[in-house]
Amino acid sequence: MPSLKAAVQLDYFAGMIEKETGIRFSDGTYYQLEARLEELASKFGYKAGIEELYHTILDNQDPALKKLIFEKATNNETYFFRDPKLFNALETRFIPELKEKFGAPIRIWSTACSSGQESYSISILLQKLGIPAAGFDYLCSDINEAILERARTGKYSQLEVQRGLSTPDLIRYFRKSTVDSSWEVVSSLKDSLRFARINLLEAWPHKKKFHLILCRNVLIYQSIENRRQIMRRLVDALEPGGYLAMGAGESLVGISAEIVQVEHNGAILYRKKS
Ligand SMILES: C[S@@+](CC[C@H](N)C(=O)[O-])C[C@H]1O[C@@H](n2cnc3c(N)ncnc32)[C@H](O)[C@@H]1O
Repeated sequence: MPSLKAAVQLDYFAGMIEKETGIRFSDGTYYQLEARLEELASKFGYKAGIEELYHTILDNQDPALKKLIFEKATNNETYFFRDPKLFNALETRFIPELKEKFGAPIRIWSTACSSGQESYSISILLQKLGIPAAGFDYLCSDINEAILERARTGKYSQLEVQRGLSTPDLIRYFRKSTVDSSWEVVSSLKDSLRFARINLLEAWPHKKKFHLILCRNVLIYQSIENRRQIMRRLVDALEPGGYLAMGAGESLVGISAEIVQVEHNGAILYRKKS
């Protein structure tokens, strides 16, 4: 149980984080917030830990420090081909259907791509389907600039490539570093992606609508009102006939009359009515 003073400080950080990112910490998850802020405070050598971090923020509202706090609040858990049924359905049905329906380029958006495993899994599918770089326009975004930078480099540890990648895909689409034990995505995959920082709660910069949007395992951290609002905006950002993929167990049912649920071999996607 934190002291009253510590609880007030955690409340302050939780409020600041929710306002900027929508990520909610509750009494049950305050211990996670506390551990992450402690880590940040110790990185800065703050002897009084979170208390010193709290007074530093109160005193100068430094945007760079705030950004680090927001980044600490994000959960970046991800792996290659997370939810294999979805990737299988995209490969065997939905991407070929979009190619047939919309021609080139198929416009794709990964709205919370974290360190890039979701994006590179999709670009592996595109290559397997014989769709050249000119055949798609793929925007990969996240709120966390540091994690996005990792995605941009396309470099993964031995442990990370073992999570979800098959050996043939690893050999075909990655090169082992000669310097350390990391693996790097081949440039033909990397160069065809665009990375940008986008906060789902703020205005989005796109002018054109997308044919496929992935918004997976990010809205679970948001309030119900934020979820509904973001989902409605995602439907707006979708071309009629395009698809929206959510995380397993995340549903768009009841969000918009413009959307129909489509099931294929155990994967569920949402199609915007034409
Ligand atoms: C758990 S990861 C999911 C990664 C990937 N989509 C997957 O399913 O494997 C959630 C990501 O959402 C990002 N995120 C959290 N809040 C966000 C917001 N308001 N706008 C954009 N991205 C956000 C985090 O930085 C994190 O990288």
